[in-house]
Amino acid sequence: MLVLIDLRMVNKIIGQEHILKDVNLSVYKGEFLSIIGPSGSGKSSLLYIVGLLDRPSSGEILIEEKTIDFSDQKRLSEVRNKKFGFVFQFHYLINELTLTENVMVPLLKAGIPIRKARERALSLLEMVGLKGKESRKPYQISGGEQQRVSIARALSNNPDLIIADEPTGNLDSKNTQIVMDMFKELNKEGKTIVMVTHEMDLANQTNRIISMRDGRVVSV
Ligand SMILES: Nc1ncnc2c1ncn2[C@@H]1O[C@H](COP(=O)(O)OP(=O)(O)O)[C@@H](O)[C@H]1O
Ligand SMILES: [Mg+2]
Repeated sequence: MLVLIDLRMVNKIIGQEHILKDVNLSVYKGEFLSIIGPSGSGKSSLLYIVGLLDRPSSGEILIEEKTIDFSDQKRLSEVRNKKFGFVFQFHYLINELTLTENVMVPLLKAGIPIRKARERALSLLEMVGLKGKESRKPYQISGGEQQRVSIARALSNNPDLIIADEPTGNLDSKNTQIVMDMFKELNKEGKTIVMVTHEMDLANQTNRIISMRDGRVVSV
């Protein structure tokens, strides 16, 4: 299996806190990986490093076999914007913008012309089941729908990898399953997914589970 992201002996230390300890982790192309573990065990910290949103204190990260140089900000944001899509527990949609405009934001940032960006945003919103609600603002839709908009936004630049931190943490069981089914479908279509969850029945729906405890990966 091809490795998309490789973490080698990654440590994260903030002040006196040793948050990640000698983490080795390979994310394989096409897999749906879940990361479980108790609150405070370092799941989010690990995910931020996998997504290049944060840099390790020591250790190495390779994307498609190339070592990431954390001093090259331009390359970092290019990889983040083109290869990764992020979904968080809180949707971070912009309340002043319509759903369409929210999904257009990363496209415009990537230099896509406005008309094309709008077309793509509309088709993504349709894909996540929000046709007819495109002109609403985030506060005019339900929590489950908001999370689907954030998935549409994460998919806007057609990323290879979806990184999700407790994406269903705020949803009821029905909407949780809708989001999970969406991830499973995207995975079937070839997207690699790394998802943090503390619900074992969600982790059990993925290809592979790793477990964290006290900053360490305790089972792979
Ligand atoms: N910016 C920070 N400064 C200091 N400590 C932090 C910071 N971010 C996270 N931590 C600590 O790192 C540990 C792991 O946090 P986190 O990765 O958020 O865990 P999880 O997502 O598994 O709940 C916790 O003890 C947390 O308090
Ligand atoms: Mg967390």
